Amino acid sequence: MSYKDYTLTVLGTGTIGQAFLSAYLSNPKAETAPKKIIACVNSEASAKKLESIYKSSNGIEIEISYGAESNGKAVAQSQVVVIGTKPYLTEKALESCPSLQGKLLISLVAGWTIDQFQQYSAKVSRVMTNTPAKYQYGTAVVANSSAATEDERQLILDLMGPIGKVVELPEKNMDAATGLVGSGPAFVLLILEAMTEAGLSLGIPLKESKECAIKVLEGTAKLAEITGAHPAELKHQVCTPGGTTIAGVVAMEEAGLKSAIVKGITAAANRASELGKK
Ligand SMILES: NC(=O)c1ccc[n+]([C@@H]2O[C@H](COP(=O)([O-])OP(=O)(O)OC[C@H]3O[C@@H](n4cnc5c(N)ncnc54)[C@H](OP(=O)(O)O)[C@@H]3O)[C@@H](O)[C@H]2O)c1
Repeated sequence: MSYKDYTLTVLGTGTIGQAFLSAYLSNPKAETAPKKIIACVNSEASAKKLESIYKSSNGIEIEISYGAESNGKAVAQSQVVVIGTKPYLTEKALESCPSLQGKLLISLVAGWTIDQFQQYSAKVSRVMTNTPAKYQYGTAVVANSSAATEDERQLILDLMGPIGKVVELPEKNMDAATGLVGSGPAFVLLILEAMTEAGLSLGIPLKESKECAIKVLEGTAKLAEITGAHPAELKHQVCTPGGTTIAGVVAMEEAGLKSAIVKGITAAANRASELGKK
């Protein structure tokens, strides 16, 4: 199937659906861009909010709709459907779209497997992304079903590209990706909060402490990305023998920082594996 002048429906345009949509509309690839995007929600109140956020742009018409009947109509005229509902509401949303079969279905939903989605359409891809996507600083982990053609795989990369970083992995890694990527911002925010409060408790005003903590996180991430070096190597470069940094590192390790983070991401991944089960 060729994807030209097609319509794309976002079925469930809440936090993560909007993160995807905002990223995509910021920089759509002309060759594979849809002619029209229909953003579906459940309630009229959410539809009104979306209408104030999204306007037609870059030659892409935007339509907002809500309710089960509108879902069915939107999907009937679409070739690509991106689903962004909560796991426990996903079945209900899919059941409202009888014409899904044969369409490219891209899931942003945690826990639901390719197998489960294939009851509704054989062509399924799973994407696990996160809220920084909204500002093009997100990560998208993509797992495709074997039914997706090369053109469809490329289309998914084009649709997800504006999110930020796109990584293709086998489906067996999707629960782990949910813990690392989907939940990841919450864990990093805990660290940001802790660093901000550390500065505060040592006498730095809140605003400046938060600004410094944000820049330390951003700068260190960039350093790791640009150098490609292992985190332990970069950490040791900062540690003077007998100095301040190694004293801090030892105190944090005594408090179990690294294992707490590993355990947190593992707990999130384990929870993700339960979400698609009824
Ligand atoms: N939030 C994150 O950081 C994050 C990260 C990674 C993955 N995810 C995954 O993304 C999915 C959505 O999470 P979320 O946080 O974005 O939830 P959310 O903010 O509650 O958004 C869900 C959206 O689905 C709509 N909806 C509910 N039932 C519907 C139906 N029958 N038909 C059409 N639309 C319907 C809701 O509309 P109303 O507002 O009208 O109810 C809402 O717009 C989840 O599966 C989650 O695992 C989320």
